[in-house]
Parts: sequence; structure tokens; C-alpha cells
Amino acid sequence: MTNVLYEVADQVATITINRPEALNALNGDVLKDLGSAVAQAAADRVRAVLVTGAGEKAFVAGADIAAMATMTPREAQAFSELGNTVFRQVERLPMPTIAVVNGFALGGGCELALSCDVRLASVKAVFGQPEVGLGITPGFGGTQRLARTVGIGLAKEIIFSGRNIDATRALAIGLVNSVYEPAELMPAALKMAAGIAAKAPVAVRAAKAAINLGIQTDIDSGIALEAAYFATCFATEDQTEGMTAFVEKRKPAPFQDK
Ligand code: CAA
Repeated sequence: MTNVLYEVADQVATITINRPEALNALNGDVLKDLGSAVAQAAADRVRAVLVTGAGEKAFVAGADIAAMATMTPREAQAFSELGNTVFRQVERLPMPTIAVVNGFALGGGCELALSCDVRLASVKAVFGQPEVGLGITPGFGGTQRLARTVGIGLAKEIIFSGRNIDATRALAIGLVNSVYEPAELMPAALKMAAGIAAKAPVAVRAAKAAINLGIQTDIDSGIALEAAYFATCFATEDQTEGMTAFVEKRKPAPFQDK
């Protein structure tokens, strides 16, 4: 995984796209390495995953334009399918994922951030879907996830105009959860991840699944899903400990993921 770094500390994985000389642009090799890192995080059963970009300038400046420039339609279809498969793998990780957006998040970079559950940004972050200016559409899920995140009207404006969005505007439209000074971004992300990691993991994963599956269905089916996930928590030792501790007016013992 030369193009992607993977580290685990305190039950939190950090995945770093590591191609700073090209502003972490995503070519086929980077995407495959990202897929391997995501699979590793799933296998390690970490409690949260941070996704970020190496260097000072970029989260990910998009899919690799030089690699795409001479693609045939058939090759472009395969490239889009590869990116979408890997980003769906990110989205389907059972534990929470946090995009730590330290700079440019354009095209495929914005789409990668959208595949994560939460987006935290530096004041220097720049978002956008500039693809139409290159003669293409977004190809790694932008037409689908941006509308689901900021609403259809804003998503259409952003994609049709190809204009960049600064961190302040990204916060105002709900594209990011919070904005930090550059030096405070990673500490804030690690603090959020540690807070999540300290909660009952089965409950956190069940809540993520209920939200992600429920948002795709009608309200009655979604509520039924929620009841089923709620019930599964009651078969866990962590629920017994969490509730017993409350009743006994003491702090719960650390949750064991059981
Ligand atoms: N693909 C390939 N290489 C890229 C790249 C990309 N998306 N973004 C940056 N790079 C490379 C540059 O070519 C340059 O390489 P060299 O040093 O070898 O010339 C290096 O990274 C540094 O970039 P710049 O010199 O351009 O840095 P800058 O500070 O002047 O500009 C930038 C920064 C505004 C982000 C500019 O690099 C840029 O506009 N990048 C492209 C952004 C973009 O259009 N992204 C969307 C791609 S299409 C897509 O993602 C499709 C999809 O949905 C799947």
C-alpha cells in the first residue's frame, strides 16, 4: 500500500492518501491501495476511521486527470466502477468514518469526503465538483451523494457551475460538520474519534446501519429497521453494563464490544 498509509492507535485507524506530489490525485493504483486499507480497517474491527490526505495542501485534488485524459468510454466506465466500488466500501464500513479535509477536496476528493459519515475541515479546505469544466460528469458518486448531503438544488448548482466552495460556505450548507484552524484539525478529529471509540461499539455500528439503510427507505420501514437494531443491542453485555451502571449510579466499565 505505497500510495496509502494505514495506522491504528487506540482503536482508531487513520488512512492517509499519500501522493502529495500530485495533490493526492486518485489513479487506479491509489484507489486499489485505498480499498486494501479500508478492508484492513474492517478486519481490525477498529472503532472509528479517519480518512485524510498527506501534505499541507490537499485532501485529494480529484481523480487523476493525466490518467483519464486518453481513456476510451469503456476504460472510463471501468475507472468509474473502480472508484465507486472503493468509495462504497468506505461508506459501508460498519464503524463511523471521519473525513479530515486538510486542503483541496475537488472532484473525486469531494466525493471521497462525501463517502465518509462526518466531514471536518480546515479553514483552508476547498470543496468542489469541477468536472464539467473538464468535459465530464462527476464519476465517483458526486451526482448521488452531494444531493443527498446538501439537497438537490445546491448539488445541482455546485455541479453545473463547477465553482469551488470555501470552508465557511461548506459549513453553511451542511457539506461539513465543523471547521478548524489547520493545526487544530487533526487533534479535533482524533478527539471526536476517541469519543466515539469510548461508546458501546455494537450500539454505534447499529445506529450507523439504521441511519444508512433507513435513509434509503420509507419512514415506516425505517422505523421498523430501527426497532430491530434497538432490539439487537439488548443481547449485548455492553447494554447490560451501560444500563446497570446508570441504575447503580456509577460509571460503566469500558465497553468490550460484546
Ligand atoms: N490529477 C492529476 N494531477 C493533479 C491533479 C489531478 N486531479 N490535481 C493536481 N495534480 C498535480 C498537478 O498536475 C501538479 O503536478 P506537477 O507538479 O507534476 O505539474 C501537482 O499536482 C501540483 O498541482 P498544481 O501545480 O496544479 O497546484 P496549484 O496549487 O497550482 O493548484 C489545484 C491546485 C487548484 C487543486 C489544481 O491542481 C487543480 O485544479 N487540480 C485539478 C482539480 C480537479 O479538476 N479535480 C477534478 C478531477 S476530475 C474527477 O475527479 C472526476 C471524478 O469525479 C472521478
